Amino acid sequence: MEKIGAGAEAVICLEKNTVIKKRIKKSYRIKEIDERLRKFRTRRETKILEKLSSINFPTPTLILSDDKDMIIKMNFLDGKKIRDVLNNENCETICNEIGKKIAILHNNDIIHGDLTTSNMILIKEVYFIDFGLSFFSDKIEDKAVDLHLLRQAIESKHHGIFEKAFNSVLNGYKIKNKNYNETIKRLEKVELRGKYKGKSP
Ligand SMILES: Nc1ncnc2c1ncn2[C@@H]1O[C@H](COP(=O)(O)OP(=O)(O)O)[C@@H](O)[C@H]1O
Ligand SMILES: [Mg+2]
Repeated sequence: MEKIGAGAEAVICLEKNTVIKKRIKKSYRIKEIDERLRKFRTRRETKILEKLSSINFPTPTLILSDDKDMIIKMNFLDGKKIRDVLNNENCETICNEIGKKIAILHNNDIIHGDLTTSNMILIKEVYFIDFGLSFFSDKIEDKAVDLHLLRQAIESKHHGIFEKAFNSVLNGYKIKNKNYNETIKRLEKVELRGKYKGKSP
């Protein structure tokens, strides 16, 4: 068994073609709260992966979920993180696709909760991973915040191509999303809120 990653809250191991995601103890949290949180996130990620498979959304296929050991097993996506491949030449095409896929999530009232280019893997198409912070919601606000977080992630990790990349995300989103205008209007409000917050002492 080979360790392939350690994210913010989980250790990721690879065994043949199976990824094992184990949510590890956080000793800074109170024990009961830590257990409840890890159980909740394991269950939540499981539920969302099941739903996504049922609508043929490109994510890993769930193999096993165990909320006692806080483990999820899924198939290994043998590709590259979008974070490592995105560049000035390919960003319009890739980000357009990403936008379309976020629109599909949102049309199904799924909020990813942690949209970053590290949580997307490119094989022949873009796959989304890491649904531990995801939830079901039909609120425009939640969808706008989801887009806002991706905007921030792109701004910090892909600064040089940030505008082109995020505009392409929105162009793709517009093609597929049911409530595009409403969501974009709300996104602008979310951004303004963020700006004011940043400026206050
Ligand atoms: N199914 C998978 N296939 C390939 N790589 C994966 C898979 N799941 C996780 N990874 C790798 O492990 C890293 C961390 O996993 P992730 O689910 O994002 O956990 P965390 O919540 O800790 O960020 C990812 O960025 C990715 O590189
Ligand atoms: Mg992650």
